Amino acid sequence: MIQQIQTKVKSNELIADKIYKLVLSDDFDLNQFLPGKFIHIKCADGLDPLLRRPMSICNINDSGDEMVVLYRADGKGTKLLSQKNPGDELDMLAPLGVEFPTEQVKAGSKVLMIGGGIGVPPLYYLSRKLKAQGAQIKAILGFNAAKDVFYEDEFKELGETYITTIDGRYGHQGLVTDLMDEDYDILYTCGPTAMIKAVQAKVPEGKLAYMSLEERMACGIGACLACVSKSTDPNCKSYNRVCTEGPVFPINSIDLL
Ligand SMILES: Cc1cc2nc3c(=O)[nH]c(=O)nc-3n(C[C@H](O)[C@H](O)[C@H](O)COP(=O)(O)OP(=O)(O)OC[C@H]3O[C@@H](n4cnc5c(N)ncnc54)[C@H](O)[C@@H]3O)c2cc1C
Ligand code: FES
Repeated sequence: MIQQIQTKVKSNELIADKIYKLVLSDDFDLNQFLPGKFIHIKCADGLDPLLRRPMSICNINDSGDEMVVLYRADGKGTKLLSQKNPGDELDMLAPLGVEFPTEQVKAGSKVLMIGGGIGVPPLYYLSRKLKAQGAQIKAILGFNAAKDVFYEDEFKELGETYITTIDGRYGHQGLVTDLMDEDYDILYTCGPTAMIKAVQAKVPEGKLAYMSLEERMACGIGACLACVSKSTDPNCKSYNRVCTEGPVFPINSIDLL
């Protein structure tokens, strides 16, 4: 059930270039706050900016009393968010959207995570959950440059992890798709549209693969249609609201323009 919650900021620290790690305290129901779902944060105390900002859940601890959100402070709302201090209250609507389907993942399944930039966070929570169920996790995480890299060590604790950077000063020089092979049972990806399109093109027909889209949103609850994306499946609705039918979709089910 979607709720408006007042959480407390526990910490809010810079961990890479413009990337902050926000830790929130509350009583999060682990059966509701599943990997892939998102929260809609009110960044300002007043009315400007009016629109909330959608953020992925990067992690929730096993006792359900701490949530981690990683965000890039680049625009008006997220820069205000970066000014929050320990003890401040933070208003969120949550949990929103649908989670990553995981029922096909069995103990021993080979799971490939492909993340790009600020699309990496939801894959961490998912990886942690699937690792705990006995899956083998491999992560390929792409960033623009060394200064942008985050959560490499955290992913390394869960499995084989590769970093790519465009400038090549850290990790493999190039794109995440350079390192993609077909040795996996299920793939999950989140990142910029151009990256997801490149991943789509490399997923063979018949392979299980899901993407999470970071579309522009306004209401976040299905009412305004700001976030619609065109379906590629003639048997489904022509347009899907990313905030309610998504943000997670089968990899080839949405026409990424
Ligand atoms: C489901 C989902 C999960 C996301 N998870 C994360 C995350 O974990 N960490 C993170 O840093 N970012 C995440 N994003 C992207 C993030 O919501 C935007 O970067 C953020 O809204 C930009 O706000 P701003 O104040 O920095 O920018 P501004 O330029 O001030 O935003 C202006 C308006 O445009 C919208 N907007 C701008 N860029 C985007 C974008 N790329 N996606 C959606 N709306 C946008 C904002 O919502 C706002 O209404 C996610 C987006 C979605 C849809
Ligand atoms: S953001 Fe309003 S319908 Fe999706």
